[in-house]
Amino acid sequence: MLAVRARGPNQLYLDPMTPVPAVRPGYLLIRVLSVALNPSDYKRLAVFGESTPHTMGCDVAGRVVLCGEDIDQDYAPGDRVAGLCYGMKPGDASSGAFGQYALLKGALSMRVPEHVSDAEAATIAVGVNFGGQALYRSLGLSLPRLSGSVSDSEDFQTRQRGPSVLIYGGATATGMMALQLARLSGCRVLTTCSPRNFQLVKALGAHEAFDYHDAEGCGAAIRAATSDGLLYALDCVAAGNSLRICSDALTSRGSGVARYTASLPVGDAFPRHDVIHGWTSGYSAFGEGTHLAGALGEANAADLEFAARFWKLAATLLAQDRIRLGPLVHLRRAGLQGVPGGFSELKSGSVSAGKLVYVL
Ligand SMILES: NC(=O)c1ccc[n+]([C@@H]2O[C@H](COP(=O)([O-])OP(=O)(O)OC[C@H]3O[C@@H](n4cnc5c(N)ncnc54)[C@H](OP(=O)(O)O)[C@@H]3O)[C@@H](O)[C@H]2O)c1
Repeated sequence: MLAVRARGPNQLYLDPMTPVPAVRPGYLLIRVLSVALNPSDYKRLAVFGESTPHTMGCDVAGRVVLCGEDIDQDYAPGDRVAGLCYGMKPGDASSGAFGQYALLKGALSMRVPEHVSDAEAATIAVGVNFGGQALYRSLGLSLPRLSGSVSDSEDFQTRQRGPSVLIYGGATATGMMALQLARLSGCRVLTTCSPRNFQLVKALGAHEAFDYHDAEGCGAAIRAATSDGLLYALDCVAAGNSLRICSDALTSRGSGVARYTASLPVGDAFPRHDVIHGWTSGYSAFGEGTHLAGALGEANAADLEFAARFWKLAATLLAQDRIRLGPLVHLRRAGLQGVPGGFSELKSGSVSAGKLVYVL
């Protein structure tokens, strides 16, 4: 099959002779319909050090060709599914998404409803997986309710009573998903983005949007808007002034009551020791260990167990048409052949409010 593969640091190439992955227990083999790019793809390419070529990519949708043993959902060949791949996983050359066929871990996949296009389906996996892990496992928010939709009067109650959460970087692809999930959890959602994206983030579910370019005033404005009561911040950028703005926004009342989670390792850089802070990697949802460079770290079975439950919940939310994917799609041409050019575009920082998507 044709696939986008890595063969050394910053070396990607189109390989028309890539072996089709062999299906294995717990996995589905899919014929790929669409893929989306993520910053993690090129960041990990920069430090790729395996001796054999590995297929790249994490975000994918396609049709089931074969079901491995021990899949706990009733998938059948022909079903349209979306799922997460562990692209460039050390020692697993066929784990990536960017091929004509791909392997999906059954627990980290979902059926795609009719109303969702192939292009939209490619934007599900990384956002749902990271949003679930960060909001519910790291920050400890309540899971979204499944029945009914949020009526205007309920929404008024939410504004009055639900916990406030700051989604820093509401116009990042991860932020666009996270703020929708937080809203479905009944939170009052505050976010930061460029003013050109205020309307978009509000249409997706944010109650209030703040311009992060005002590094001095942004955090203080959020603290004032929440009457110094903000307990939760999810930082989807974890760069520039994001740590400072989140730190300024979180409540000053009491030690150990506020929580901050980032999408990248922040180490000791977070400015406040009275805030519980850390980061979370979506790759740990595989329960097989995570890595940036070198060998895989320790596996976390509890992350996989949580992710398996959350993916089922997210599948229901999607089937109920309560997650919007359309605004996330920046469609590009040329299928897999277009992917290398897409990375140049993504690295340039010119992609705002969405993901580059390729339909095969
Ligand atoms: N830990 C994980 O599992 C995980 C999962 C996914 C992503 N990530 C990481 O999370 C980060 C975001 O990824 P992504 O794909 O969501 O990003 P993205 O969609 O590529 O982000 C682009 C957006 O970032 C916003 N932005 C840039 N600098 C900002 C700043 N200083 N403050 C606020 N917003 C800023 C811009 O918003 P405006 O246009 O509004 O200015 C821009 O639209 C990356 O570092 C990625 O590697 C981690």
